Amino acid sequence: VTGRTRVLFVCLGNICRSPTAEVVFRAAAAKAGLASRVEIDSAGTGDWHVGDAPDPRAIVHAARRGYDLRPLRARQFSIVDFGRFDWILAMDRSVLDELEAACPSAFAGHLGLFLDVAPEIGERDVPDPYARGPEGFERVLDLVESASDALARRIAASPR
Ligand code: 4NP
Repeated sequence: VTGRTRVLFVCLGNICRSPTAEVVFRAAAAKAGLASRVEIDSAGTGDWHVGDAPDPRAIVHAARRGYDLRPLRARQFSIVDFGRFDWILAMDRSVLDELEAACPSAFAGHLGLFLDVAPEIGERDVPDPYARGPEGFERVLDLVESASDALARRIAASPR
C-alpha cells in the first residue's frame, strides 16, 4: 500500500469556494469508495479571513444540498503546502497565477485549475461569489459538484 492521494483546493479567502470544494469533494470521494485513499484540505492565498468559519451564505447554500461547512476554519496557503499535497487545485486563473509564481521547480505534484479536471463543463474558473447574490453561491455548488465527481473518477482510475 502506498500513500494516500492528497488534494488541496485553493481560492482567495478560503471562506467561499475552496471550503465548498473541500466538503463537496470529500462527499464525492466517499461515494466513489475513496474515503481511505484521499486526504483533502483547502486554503486561501489571502490572509483576511484566517481563523474564520466559511461565509454564512456559503454555509446556507451548501446545507441545502446536504453539506456541512460549519466546522471549517480558514487558513492561508503556505509554501510548505507544495511539499504536502499531490494535487493543488486553484479555483480560478488569478489564484493559479499566484500559485505558479510561488511553486518550487522541484514540485512533483499537479498544480492546475480545478475545473480543468472536467473539460466537459466548458468553463475554467469558479466565479468568486463573495460580492454576488445567492445565484453566485448556487453556481459555485453546481460547478464544484460536477468537477468533484470528475476528480473522484480520475483518482479512482489512477494506480495506487
Ligand atoms: P473565496 O471568496 O475566495 O471564494 O473564499 C472570497 C472571500 C473573501 C474575499 C475574496 C474572495 N475577500 O476579499 O475578503
